[in-house]
Amino acid sequence: MNKVSIIGAGQVGAATGLFIAQKQIANLLLVDVVPGLAQGKALDLSQAAPVEGYGIRIAGTEKFAEIEGSEVVVVTAGVARRPGMSRLDLLEKNASIVKGIAQDIAKYAPLALLIMVTNPLDLLTYLAWKVTGFPPQRILGQAGILDTARFRHFVAQELGVSAEDVSAMVLGGHGDTMVPLPRYTCVSGVPVTELLSAERIAELVERTRRGGAEIVALLKTGSASFAPGAAAAQMVEAILRDQKRILPCSAYLQGEYGIEGVFVGVPVRLGAQGVEEVLELKLTSEELKVLRASAEVYRQGIEQLTPYL
Ligand code: 2OP
Repeated sequence: MNKVSIIGAGQVGAATGLFIAQKQIANLLLVDVVPGLAQGKALDLSQAAPVEGYGIRIAGTEKFAEIEGSEVVVVTAGVARRPGMSRLDLLEKNASIVKGIAQDIAKYAPLALLIMVTNPLDLLTYLAWKVTGFPPQRILGQAGILDTARFRHFVAQELGVSAEDVSAMVLGGHGDTMVPLPRYTCVSGVPVTELLSAERIAELVERTRRGGAEIVALLKTGSASFAPGAAAAQMVEAILRDQKRILPCSAYLQGEYGIEGVFVGVPVRLGAQGVEEVLELKLTSEELKVLRASAEVYRQGIEQLTPYL
């Protein structure tokens, strides 16, 4: 059985653990600096096993050294947004947390694949890449699957169809500049552009862009956890089961889409080697412009990482 370590045993870390457990993908280690938190969540998840029927081992610890031997490490640690905040507002607090974690990952699990979840996602994935020195193939961020899932949900709800039958693609950074692509959104193969008016699609696109903030505004003291956890678990599954899934993830670009030197959401082929390929969709000049503008926000953001590099 493979081993997956989840750093941060808060809401997102625990939800990721639950989805991984239900799919019986790997043994789990939850890690958190808050005394008892990871152990408590691990015990709770373990006690759901007899009911749910998953047969994996789940442990919790405060000691980072125990991540040794992990094939995949998922980083969810950090503070979440409060109403009115943008993800970029979290940079200062979460960058120092992620820096320390990345150093520990490089030390104790130098061969692991690293999935980042902490916000601001694309920038902190860049930071973790720099700090660990991992090849870009072995480090990626979870965002596109979540943003795509939100868009799929909204389209399905609008049309009164199963979300499972809605496929979509959301590229760009995990923030206000994300790029949902209606042209690549279909309901059982039928383009959504044939099913909904341009105005209604634009409204759903906007709701998707603000999907995280909508939940933060409702919860007031936290942010989404189930959908981010499900998305992270899907990435872990694609890697450990070598599924070669085509999924939108934050990946390091080296000239694809005319973008270089940043992590931003693009479709990748995800398998045992991590990011096995970055797929280049044939975008219209308008779509490309919006994607590059989104990437530019994160290129400029890299400067703010200087104190942590
Ligand atoms: C979200 O979009 C927390 O960034 C995460 O909900």
